[in-house]
Amino acid sequence: MSAVYDLRSDTVTQPTPEMKRAMMEAPLGDDVLGDDPTVKRLEALIAGLTGKESGLFFPSGTQANQTAIQVHAGRGHEVLLERRSHIFNYEAGAPAALAGVQLHPVDTADGVLRPPDLEGRVRPLNEHFAQTRLVCLENTHNGHGGRIYPIGDMEALSRWARERGLAVHLDGARLFNAVVASGVAARRWAACADTVSICLSKGLGAPVGTCLVGDAEAINRARWVRKRLGGGMRQAGILAAAGIHALERHVDRLADDHAVAKEIATGLSALEGIEVDVEKVETNIVLVRVVAPGLTAPDLVRAAEENGVRSFDSSPTVIRLVTHLDVPRDAGREVPRRFAEALHSLPRPLGGRV
Ligand SMILES: Cc1ncc(COP(=O)(O)O)c(C=O)c1O
Repeated sequence: MSAVYDLRSDTVTQPTPEMKRAMMEAPLGDDVLGDDPTVKRLEALIAGLTGKESGLFFPSGTQANQTAIQVHAGRGHEVLLERRSHIFNYEAGAPAALAGVQLHPVDTADGVLRPPDLEGRVRPLNEHFAQTRLVCLENTHNGHGGRIYPIGDMEALSRWARERGLAVHLDGARLFNAVVASGVAARRWAACADTVSICLSKGLGAPVGTCLVGDAEAINRARWVRKRLGGGMRQAGILAAAGIHALERHVDRLADDHAVAKEIATGLSALEGIEVDVEKVETNIVLVRVVAPGLTAPDLVRAAEENGVRSFDSSPTVIRLVTHLDVPRDAGREVPRRFAEALHSLPRPLGGRV
């Protein structure tokens, strides 16, 4: 078969030959002992880009988020966050298992927490209650299809939280997708939060790595938590070099991923049996709702895979497609064509109805 389009996630990218060269040539030290110059360079670079005092390199976004939670909150404390957030759904129960915090998920229509959503949810200081300590935000919002958190809303939420003595952590796994799509600088988003995690291994195309940024005190505490979680890495500069390369070469090109995602969404929206809200595709994620009677998202994922498009079902009725560095430009045309074939390949009566 011709090329396979792997749209399961933007984490599937392979390091480019230039990135591999940068990794091979990176000067290394022992980062747990604090002397890996490449890790230090990456941490300084990302701190500069986000306007924060310090940065810290992690093996994964999950570990960076979980470390941030432990920096800001502890056993018996409560964390407010959006119901479809990554931290609530996809981090293996770590807030409960590792930090001993209680998560308080809040429903929203679009992934954007606004002060009225949280009003009345900060618990009074009283021995009956968990103490509310932290609000976690996500930008872009994975579960809401790569939705950008409007900067005005985030600034308002941040003010609201700080007036109540709450810390704010931003899961910015795809922050640079938001930056490129909106034109709002990373430092302006970051100013809304005490700590921000930013993944290098998603749309930016590095094989491994996430940075956490914050003030020097928060990052110093994060260093202890990271060690406790087993995240202290030795000659980590070999990985950090990929992150530096990604930040220097792969940020602006995220606009291409967004354009391809929009094109895929537009093509898919013309097909019967599925629905796509093209207006909601703001970055590199397309959510496809399966509406043909009797057809499920896993059925269509399987059929699409047979036609050379890999994707994930994120619920029994929703398929998620993610564009990235390794998705060729012609995917905008080819992916809808292959989905059309997949829909028609399904056994009757399904195939007859779509
Ligand atoms: C929004 C968001 N946060 C955090 C993570 C976790 O990153 P990792 O897979 O590196 O642990 C992901 C991963 O997909 C994500 O989408």
